[in-house]
Amino acid sequence: MRLDVAFTPAGLTPADVQGRTVFVIDILRATTVMCAALTHGAKALIPVASTEEALRLAQTIGSADVLLAGEKDCRRIPGFHLGNSPLEMTETAVRGKTLVVTTTNGTKALLASQGAAAAYAACAANLSLAAEKAREVVERGGGVLVICAGRDGAFSLDDAYCAGRLAAATFDSRKPRRGLNDAAIASLDLVRRYGDRWERPLTYSRAGRELIKLGFRDDVLDAARLDAYPVLAHFHERRVTLAQVPV
Ligand code: MLT
Repeated sequence: MRLDVAFTPAGLTPADVQGRTVFVIDILRATTVMCAALTHGAKALIPVASTEEALRLAQTIGSADVLLAGEKDCRRIPGFHLGNSPLEMTETAVRGKTLVVTTTNGTKALLASQGAAAAYAACAANLSLAAEKAREVVERGGGVLVICAGRDGAFSLDDAYCAGRLAAATFDSRKPRRGLNDAAIASLDLVRRYGDRWERPLTYSRAGRELIKLGFRDDVLDAARLDAYPVLAHFHERRVTLAQVPV
């Protein structure tokens, strides 16, 4: 049984992700946005590394069903159809659409999972489904890696707490310590510190405080809603889509 947490994608090599099931967390707000969009009928989200790449890709696809979404330094990108708020991902806005998305940290973290056996976007909004999948993997002896998007290459409290919640829910009452790296143990300690109240670590974190200052308090509170967007967001062949449920 093995579950490792990386507090940031910085320094991860392809060998770190290869053959493992990866969960990428950017709870404020990129992975929450992805779950909200899929819940409300978006066909797919395509994470890309920059605004330029997003514009290029949207032009190459050249369809009216493609929307540009994301943020740079927490702010909307001029000319994009949507920002990076889960509250913008309404049925009216996203049903049947493919969103080309670029964000400061979240999309880069997802791209760092390329080469994994499987990769999923995780957050509070889909925690139970993500944990169910992680449990399935550890029970069959597979390795799980949780990649926190972090902030500008550094630790972020919001993502690390979420990683701890995922680790705790994956192992339930079992004593997992032997299979955890130090970051995973520290993330479980954050869960002991903050308990089950998501709003605390989210509003205390630097990302949370900055979003609140910019007028996005409702986004932070939305991201704190457990299982609010209950979809398994699968990243495969460059796209985030609803995971195929085996029949
Ligand atoms: C990120 O990718 O860094 C975040 O999604 C930033 C934000 O929510 O504005």
